[in-house]
Amino acid sequence: MRVGLIGYLVEHSLSPVFQQAALDALGIPARYELWPTPPEGLLDRLESLRSADVVGANVTVPHKEAVARAVDRLEPRAQRAGAVNTVLRRNGELIGDNTDIPGFLYPLARRGIPVAELRTVVLGAGGAARAVLVALTDARCRRLVVANRTRARAEALVSEFGCGEAASLDDRLTETLATTDLLINATSVGWDGSTSPIPSEWLEVLPRHALVYDLTYRETPLLQAARARGLATLDGLEMLVAQGAESFRLWFSTEPPFDLMLQVAQEARARRFGTNG
Ligand code: ATR
Repeated sequence: MRVGLIGYLVEHSLSPVFQQAALDALGIPARYELWPTPPEGLLDRLESLRSADVVGANVTVPHKEAVARAVDRLEPRAQRAGAVNTVLRRNGELIGDNTDIPGFLYPLARRGIPVAELRTVVLGAGGAARAVLVALTDARCRRLVVANRTRARAEALVSEFGCGEAASLDDRLTETLATTDLLINATSVGWDGSTSPIPSEWLEVLPRHALVYDLTYRETPLLQAARARGLATLDGLEMLVAQGAESFRLWFSTEPPFDLMLQVAQEARARRFGTNG
């Protein structure tokens, strides 16, 4: 059996490492492969998932939205996110799902953080922010502000989801941050390890109990600045593993060894980025 990751420039992905460890630990005779796919090859790639030996696939940048338009059927949460990160086959049909949504909530639930009571700010209004918004809307968080460099995109998202408020990434956001329990970075800023979506001084106004959650699965300047201020932080590695674990459940209808997957992912990240991520 085979499962794999459809994306472009997937060579450095951590998914094969922790997914294969889970398959091997459970003795499932399957391989998790990398399926690098340029945009013009995407439809052929999806057709190849109908092959009998293929159980399903993960989907990553830049194909999540295109796959949502191309599969035979979408789970409701994937439809709301407008993005698919997991494909499975059911009765000969390709089903698109989005496990980033439960994956985002899992590390919060694991720490007993009551999302429904939180005043949240989401930085970003792209694909990652959409999955976060589906999760936070379902969790009925107390307050939701979507702050984006291009304010119009935040406004469009808030109006589509029918909840929350839009904001820009300007000084006025500090007023909102002063009453924020959970600050989420869902922008693409931070992957280079040297840039931050907001100035680090803005973290000064966050309440002392606030949690800064960066979906980037490496150490970012935002997390460093938050920690320097004594704030609690969470990076995106546990979310990455949690979305993978949920995909695994969908493909194999069995519980994967989460702690092992997380440990293997941490080791792989240390090899890729250095010990601090
Ligand atoms: P993804 O699917 O990873 O979310 P995306 O859809 O391209 O990727 O969205 C990237 C997000 O990061 C957007 O919210 C983008 O802001 P804009 O809508 O204004 O483009 C945000 N982003 C990218 N570079 C940024 C920067 N230098 N500063 C602030 N936000 C940035």
